[in-house]
Amino acid sequence: MQSIKLATILGARPQFIKAAPVSQAIAANQSAAHSTGADFEGLEIDEILIHTGQHYDQGMSDTFFNSLNLKTPRYNLGVGSGSHGKQLAKMFEGLEAVLGIEHPDLVLVYGDTNSTLAGALIADRLQIPVIHVEAGLRSFNRSMPEESNRILTDHLSSLLFAPTRTAVNNLLVEGITKEVHLVGDVMQEAAIVNGRVAERKSKILQSLGLAHKGYSLATVHRAENTDDPLRLAGIVQALLKISHSEPVVWPMHPRTRQRVSKEELERFASAGLLVIPPATYLDMLALEQKANVILTDSGGVQKEASWFQVPCVTLREETEWIETVESGWNHLAGTSAESICKAFERARHRVDHGFYQQFSGPLASQLIVDQIKIFAANHIRKPVTVR
Ligand code: UD1
Ligand code: UDP
Repeated sequence: MQSIKLATILGARPQFIKAAPVSQAIAANQSAAHSTGADFEGLEIDEILIHTGQHYDQGMSDTFFNSLNLKTPRYNLGVGSGSHGKQLAKMFEGLEAVLGIEHPDLVLVYGDTNSTLAGALIADRLQIPVIHVEAGLRSFNRSMPEESNRILTDHLSSLLFAPTRTAVNNLLVEGITKEVHLVGDVMQEAAIVNGRVAERKSKILQSLGLAHKGYSLATVHRAENTDDPLRLAGIVQALLKISHSEPVVWPMHPRTRQRVSKEELERFASAGLLVIPPATYLDMLALEQKANVILTDSGGVQKEASWFQVPCVTLREETEWIETVESGWNHLAGTSAESICKAFERARHRVDHGFYQQFSGPLASQLIVDQIKIFAANHIRKPVTVR
């Protein structure tokens, strides 16, 4: 039996969620059940997790490992927060050391954070092939750190998993055509499965005294919004205005929390704008499913809104998830109070846009595991160990 070692590098909240379905598929070795005697049959994947420590608060990290049954990372580099330069430098140093100890055959990274880029770049320097899940996403806004993280990671990757046809086309335009696989979205798998669990288990609506479709839900964390006082003021003004007509629940990201004073929080609470700490995954999915409207600048939350058929107002000028807008569920509003309130009015007059089908096919996680095995069988030649 041949076994390959796969090092998954992650570090930020959405990456724990994206990694869960793939790690489970690897553990269950699901793909072996439907393999057809091909070259990769019988090949085993030994996955280790390397946590950069980019997110470290209990509510931004540990809670996701617990609720998603993710295995404990073999390493946590504890890089923490800092400027891009400091954070990336610590990641590079830590990752180089542990990849030097572990010598994985492949490195797997998710999404578009600094942890994604650091993992891809160091693996490339160590000549370890890089696998990118959520390849090909583009906002075409180069001022976002995520955009350069995505572009660089895609160009460093040897095996690319695109969630949408648009993403495949974006890669094509940049000349990336080899080993690009359209597999759908691992986040959708996680949202659908855990959304059902959330409906049974989460008590967040009761504990906040919220009624089904009787409130809106907001999340804000994009650096271009939180670090620009004008943009943040526009968002806050809009949320306060909306909270005159219905409660608005705002699980606040730590980046945003730093920009809001205690006095402002008190003012928000008396106006019906309910700021709470970052929600656990199950509480978040429960809040999303029962919300009247979701207002967000998060990539993941935009998609979850559409999958749950909840109208969404996106607090940005553009989105990488253009299909959510085309489906009718998502409204791009930017960050002026006026445009957010207008978009909210459009969104709240609920029109049933039907099921948002981003991709139809087998489970993304299963396709990913199969393709990793095929890639390994074709590109990684190791002595066969007889057991
Ligand atoms: C990062 C990603 C972003 C992703 C987001 C998911 C980059 C460049 N950005 O943004 O693409 O959408 O994660 O949530 O990688 N902080 C804490 N506790 C924590 C984590 C962060 O207090 O556990 C605070 C720190 O003050 C830190 C700030 O939040 O400076 C920002 O954290 P950072 O990881 O740099 O970026 P995010 O805004 O979380
Ligand atoms: N999420 C969560 N609790 C929160 C906010 C978000 O569990 O308080 C989940 C959300 O359901 C989605 C993911 O985190 O699955 C999105 O991550 P985030 O918004 O931090 O990053 P992005 O998707 O924008 O990169």
